[in-house]
Amino acid sequence: MKLMDSIRYNAKQANKRIVLPEGTEERTIKAANEILEEGLAQIILLGDQAEIERLTQEFQLKHIAKATIIDPKTFDQKDAYAEQLFEMRKHKGMTIEKATQLVEDPLFLATLLIKNGEADGEVAGAANTTGDVLRPAFQIVKTKPGISVVSGAFLMLFENNPYVKDDILVFADCAVHPNPTAEELAQIAVSTAATAKNIAKIDPRVAMLSFSTMGSAKHEMVDKVANATKLAKEMAPEVIIDGEMQSDAAIVEAIGKSKAPGSEVAGNANVLVFPTLETGNISYKLVQRLAGAEAVGPVLQGMAAPINDLSRGCSISDIVNLVAITANQAAGN
Ligand code: ACO
Repeated sequence: MKLMDSIRYNAKQANKRIVLPEGTEERTIKAANEILEEGLAQIILLGDQAEIERLTQEFQLKHIAKATIIDPKTFDQKDAYAEQLFEMRKHKGMTIEKATQLVEDPLFLATLLIKNGEADGEVAGAANTTGDVLRPAFQIVKTKPGISVVSGAFLMLFENNPYVKDDILVFADCAVHPNPTAEELAQIAVSTAATAKNIAKIDPRVAMLSFSTMGSAKHEMVDKVANATKLAKEMAPEVIIDGEMQSDAAIVEAIGKSKAPGSEVAGNANVLVFPTLETGNISYKLVQRLAGAEAVGPVLQGMAAPINDLSRGCSISDIVNLVAITANQAAGN
């Protein structure tokens, strides 16, 4: 079965509740209709009730009747949620007046619904920037135990590429955290291994990438990756992780054998962890364009509940796929 088909199949079985805060955005409401028609997830749509009804009529969306619609302006838990937000963020200068306003912001309300167990995951970003989607998620849903940094992985899908076994590589961090410390990079490696196992359904072999292989170059940037490799091995002894290594040593068998003899990962890697966001973001876009790989993601990892961010240029099917991925992550949690 192709990866997205199996992700959709698993989403259907999981039947999770996914909140879509941009409920009055045209592609989002059309995607919600498709998701409900296919039974990929239960949907909670946030937005002005009258506008959602108008769009449903205009586009003849027969399945929106199955969604739970919450209008943030008239939501009956508004005051309780504002009080909760105030309590959670007062040490950061939150006032009750500000919290009362923020509860009416669908991006904040979505994360509060998750916090209160009313939703299992969220997909947003068709109409909002990455920062606006992620900030409430970081502040309210926060990270998983043992993880302090959220990062973004891409599932890079190939066809008949001689350097890619099982037609898939997982890249991270390509989306979130600009300049991780060694400790944070170790967490990114462990989170990415989990994404590879749970979402991409592969046995992860994680390469910690650098411009040096096993000490061939000396530089503080190399030291950071070598240190992160050691920390990641300590954090998750059951995961196969090695580094630091160059990208050719990671994926080309002959080069892996000559530059890192004895490594279980070198020449055989299927998860590539980049030392910075710059390198990860640049690499995934180049591989997508130059090698013709399909890039699925970013799949955000490390959050206590799955929240995923769309590109503002997304299509309806991008939204449907990301909801299915989010439902798989929620099932994994
Ligand atoms: N993981 C977990 N928590 C985080 C993270 C993280 N990676 N980054 C910030 N936080 C937390 C902070 O600890 C803080 O929490 P607190 O208020 O409880 O103390 C809160 O989030 C806000 O922190 P700031 O440092 O103020 O975060 P800021 O809002 O400046 O930045 C953001 C966060 C927006 C994600 C920023 O790191 C960013 O812009 N990253 C790049 C995103 C991007 O542009 N990616 C490329 C495009 S995506 C693509 O191409 C697919």
